[in-house]
Amino acid sequence: MTLVTEQTATVLIVDDNSANLGVLSDALDQVGLEVCVAKSGKIALERIKYVIPDLILLDIMMPDMDGFETCNHLKANPVTKDIPVIFMTAFSDTANKVKGFEVGAVDYITKPFNQQEVLSRVKLHLKLHDLSVKLEHKNALLEQKVGEISQAYQDLQEMQLKLIQSEKLSSLGQMVAGIAHEINNPVNFIYGNLLHANEYTQEVLNLLHLYQEEYPHPTPRIQTELDEVDITFIREDLLKLLKSMNIGARRIRDIVQSMRIFSRVDEANMNAVNIHEGIDSTLIILNHRLKSKPEYPGIEVIRDYSQLPLIDCYAGQLNQVFMNIIANAIDALDEYNQQRSWEAIKQQPSRIEIRTTMIDKNQVAIHIADNGPGINQEVQEKLFEPFFTTKSSGKGTGLGLSISHQIIVEKHGGCLSCKSTPGQGTEFIIQIPINQKVSRVA
Ligand SMILES: Nc1ncnc2c1ncn2[C@@H]1O[C@H](COP(=O)(O)OP(=O)(O)O)[C@@H](O)[C@H]1O
Ligand SMILES: [Mg+2]
Repeated sequence: MTLVTEQTATVLIVDDNSANLGVLSDALDQVGLEVCVAKSGKIALERIKYVIPDLILLDIMMPDMDGFETCNHLKANPVTKDIPVIFMTAFSDTANKVKGFEVGAVDYITKPFNQQEVLSRVKLHLKLHDLSVKLEHKNALLEQKVGEISQAYQDLQEMQLKLIQSEKLSSLGQMVAGIAHEINNPVNFIYGNLLHANEYTQEVLNLLHLYQEEYPHPTPRIQTELDEVDITFIREDLLKLLKSMNIGARRIRDIVQSMRIFSRVDEANMNAVNIHEGIDSTLIILNHRLKSKPEYPGIEVIRDYSQLPLIDCYAGQLNQVFMNIIANAIDALDEYNQQRSWEAIKQQPSRIEIRTTMIDKNQVAIHIADNGPGINQEVQEKLFEPFFTTKSSGKGTGLGLSISHQIIVEKHGGCLSCKSTPGQGTEFIIQIPINQKVSRVA
């Protein structure tokens, strides 16, 4: 059985001896191979510019350029370097056989030729060559598949991240919005009624005062009651009490308002919003982690807001970004403070600075900086990778910054970057377009 490749394969025979050329080409021709011939190394090198053979039979002893030199030229050319070369050598010439392998031949045949041997070696090497070409092709395919699979894996990871993000956002947002909604009514009720309670109390107290003036000598029953309660104290304290109830109720009302701004679950589309409100509401929600306690020094927040226009954005998502970045700064400062003495903390108190600026008429920047431990170069390079965290497993998920990056870059066409000097602090910079339509077209 003849191989398909043999039938269509081309063999170049290079020999300065016409008789040899004749014998070989007849033999190969008979089994259906295409044959070309060259009478010298030089002619052979010319030939292969036009026809690339599948195999070369190369005589060693030739005038001008011998077989080895011809072979060297073939191996130096990327187009011909993989063509199998079979040397033709005298039967007893061991040294040349060895040298032939050294310069890259795959085999040799000996003169005088045994037709059967020549044919079987040529066939064998054509087949080997064909198989190695196929193998290479398969390898390339395999590599391509591996590439496709790793791309698919990466896509999957990103999709999972998006899912987690949207799930987390919507469930957290819905919960916050739900709580805010439930608290909103009763708190407004208390806050509203406190105004009246204040007024009525004032009136009752005035009336009491008037009574005491008009009737300076109370009856024994009233006198007994007056002796039992300290009316002067009650009068003073009642007013203070109402005042602090008023402050407390107002504070709850502000927190509820912040929770509503922060969650903004109702806004599935982009809206023009005041991002300072978003930052402020985030700070109120994080307030319990910022203010000082007896055993905790507290973190000072400095706000330096510029005059900004309303920004086209997904407000709930943008607030999530503020939350992630500010919470990271608090985490870093907390951890830093655990290693510092009270003196050191007092000398350099923890601080978070939030600055907003107009970059140009189309873009704004939000800088969130802390004076914490900073981030070393190695960590900086991985910051935005999903699941990268330096925190213990209960504390960190490594998703905050990768989600933030996705929200800023993909959802808003903006830019999120980090600048940090270890030992001095860290600054995250969010840049986003003011107007999505204009900037997307531009
Ligand atoms: N302000 C910061 N100061 C120091 N390190 C930070 C700061 N912000 C982020 N990092 C580092 O970046 C890592 C990744 O942050 P993030 O993606 O939010 O995940 P997580 O907070 O769950 O660890 C953190 O583990 C921390 O090492
Ligand atoms: Mg985080």
